[in-house]
Amino acid sequence: MKNIFEFAEACLHNPSIDEMLSLTHQAWHALTTGDLNLLSEQPVAPISSVCFPDKPILLAPRDMPKRKLGSPGGVAAFFHSIAHVEFVAIYLAWDILYRFRGMPDQFYQDWLQVADEESQHFELIRRHLQTMGMNYGDLPAHNGLWDHAKDTANNLLARLAMVPRCMEARGLDVTPTIIKKFEHVNDIASVTLLTRILTDEVGHVERGSYWFKTVCAQQNLEPEAKYRDLIKQFYLGGKPKGPFNREMRIIAGFSNAELDWLENTNL
Ligand SMILES: [Fe+2]
Ligand SMILES: [Fe+2]
Repeated sequence: MKNIFEFAEACLHNPSIDEMLSLTHQAWHALTTGDLNLLSEQPVAPISSVCFPDKPILLAPRDMPKRKLGSPGGVAAFFHSIAHVEFVAIYLAWDILYRFRGMPDQFYQDWLQVADEESQHFELIRRHLQTMGMNYGDLPAHNGLWDHAKDTANNLLARLAMVPRCMEARGLDVTPTIIKKFEHVNDIASVTLLTRILTDEVGHVERGSYWFKTVCAQQNLEPEAKYRDLIKQFYLGGKPKGPFNREMRIIAGFSNAELDWLENTNL
């Protein structure tokens, strides 16, 4: 029987994209067939040993070339940036389950499912990019996403607040508008792809909310106050910017009070 943390290490420390994708699917398959053990015996390697492929070249967000959807090459550049978000999301899912031990089995099962879905998203977008004559890695990508993982490597509640409950939740806010733009130009392939991803992402944010509240309950913390504190502490630039997709965020486990705070409080 295979071990989930050995799979996690093999993925997080693997510079080959295709090997990492294949291992992720193998791990999920092993879980669904009852052939994966969740025993945590080996030590956790530091987050600095996580290794990314040579390409794309990673740049600071301010150094990224700006491209608009309507400009030549803009659509391909947009999907390249989405491919990168999905790629890092695979790592983020593996890393949360790898780094934070001693949680109930369901925690590991949930994040392995997320890792597998993020791999599917990445593969779908990579194929879509290829139809436009581009491959993942042909353009630079921004390095900001993994910074959230490094900042929160020792703090599970901060990781949950920053990754599913900020970064992925932002996807729920912005993706419907982007889908409308592709609908407007009759780009059905892009609409289908982004709609599929959006549906899965509601589930990822929901799992983030569920585990955030569960860990708060274990530690006798009031989850809404704790969320506000963690945002103040870890979110550079004060607080996520709206407009927020209330309907989807509520489905994904945000409360009206949290959304009121996000919308109305200036930090
Ligand atoms: Fe995704
Ligand atoms: Fe996700």
